[in-house]
Amino acid sequence: MSERVVLAYSGGLDTSVGIGWLKDATGKEVVALAVDVGQGGENMDDIRQRALDCGAVESIVIDAKDEFADDFLMPALKANALYQKRYPLVSALSRPVISRHLALTAKALGADSVAHGCTGKGNDQVRFEAAVAALAPELTSIAPVRDLALTRDKAIIYAEEHNLPIRQSAASPYSIDKNVWGRAVETGFLEDPWNAPIEELYEYTSDPEAGLGADEVIITFEAGIPVAIDGVSMSALAVVQHMNALAGKHGVGRIDIVEDRLVGIKSREVYEAPGAMALIAAHEELESLTVERDLGRYKRGVEAEWSNLVYDGLWYSGLKRSLDAFIDDTQRYVSGEIRMTLHGGRAVPTGRKSEQSLYDFSLATYDTGDTFDQSLAKGFIDLWSLPSKISARRDAKQG
Ligand code: ARG
Repeated sequence: MSERVVLAYSGGLDTSVGIGWLKDATGKEVVALAVDVGQGGENMDDIRQRALDCGAVESIVIDAKDEFADDFLMPALKANALYQKRYPLVSALSRPVISRHLALTAKALGADSVAHGCTGKGNDQVRFEAAVAALAPELTSIAPVRDLALTRDKAIIYAEEHNLPIRQSAASPYSIDKNVWGRAVETGFLEDPWNAPIEELYEYTSDPEAGLGADEVIITFEAGIPVAIDGVSMSALAVVQHMNALAGKHGVGRIDIVEDRLVGIKSREVYEAPGAMALIAAHEELESLTVERDLGRYKRGVEAEWSNLVYDGLWYSGLKRSLDAFIDDTQRYVSGEIRMTLHGGRAVPTGRKSEQSLYDFSLATYDTGDTFDQSLAKGFIDLWSLPSKISARRDAKQG
């Protein structure tokens, strides 16, 4: 049997041509692996068949939607994960689950290598290869677009010459990546950061200016995980899908940023992540009710570090694992309900309650029933400001 390579297959032009291109350049048999992370669009069976028609010896489809939601999106939600405070890591979260299946499939089929369709300019190449290196260090990674000089022009010619059954979507000037956590749109006229996004870029969200009346939703969390919407229990995947529809209708979660890629390039990106952004806002709100001040403050730093690691392709690293343990521990009491208003592009919490709430009415109230002993505040402030007083005296003496 000749050597085998397992290719992360999307069904698009690059990876379809990549099958023959890889075989020609390396002599290896190509196994296509399509991982369903809720990208929607095409039927996965059509994608499976297309890989065979393009010359794959085997074509596998894996439904990883629940695994993606449970093991990747929920940790991100517990971490309130936003890279550079804005980007909910849509693509960065899908690469480690796809890579996991690449490595498992390669091992199961005795392949010596894996392949992906990324260029040499982005983050995704790093994420695939760093994840595979961590999960199966014996495997080699090949990137036909980057290493075997498969350009888009060459891909189109190759597809025509070999009569490959590829829908020529050359019409779309954008590079799009999507999954159930959101959608990323790059290139085309967006490469000029002065150009405003246009309505046709969006698929998960409706125009927030459309003038729709507000909706209200109640999200129930257990230990940091959303488990029900409006009282109806559902899986993590269903919660995200449900919130995508509810918040997407009001144009929640549109993001337009210039982002710093790991490879040093600044890149203009448009994202839409309605469910993710609404859920993060709700989760943060519940934390503000249930997490102690010091712990919450420390966690904000951990969240930023966690987001950087995941953005940078280090999902399967020791530091990320240890931060997960910390974050999980912080979620012990993050249980309760958040009521949100969805309207005009915003998801705004308007109510919160929890059996584990740290909010104490009798301490907080300014009305009768106040149990807070205000006389204690004076002594507290004297001691609290004592170091400032002492150093101020020293400063005055020094002139
Ligand atoms: N810049 C984002 C990231 O690195 C999105 C990448 C999207 N990939 C794509 N092929 N359009 O996470």
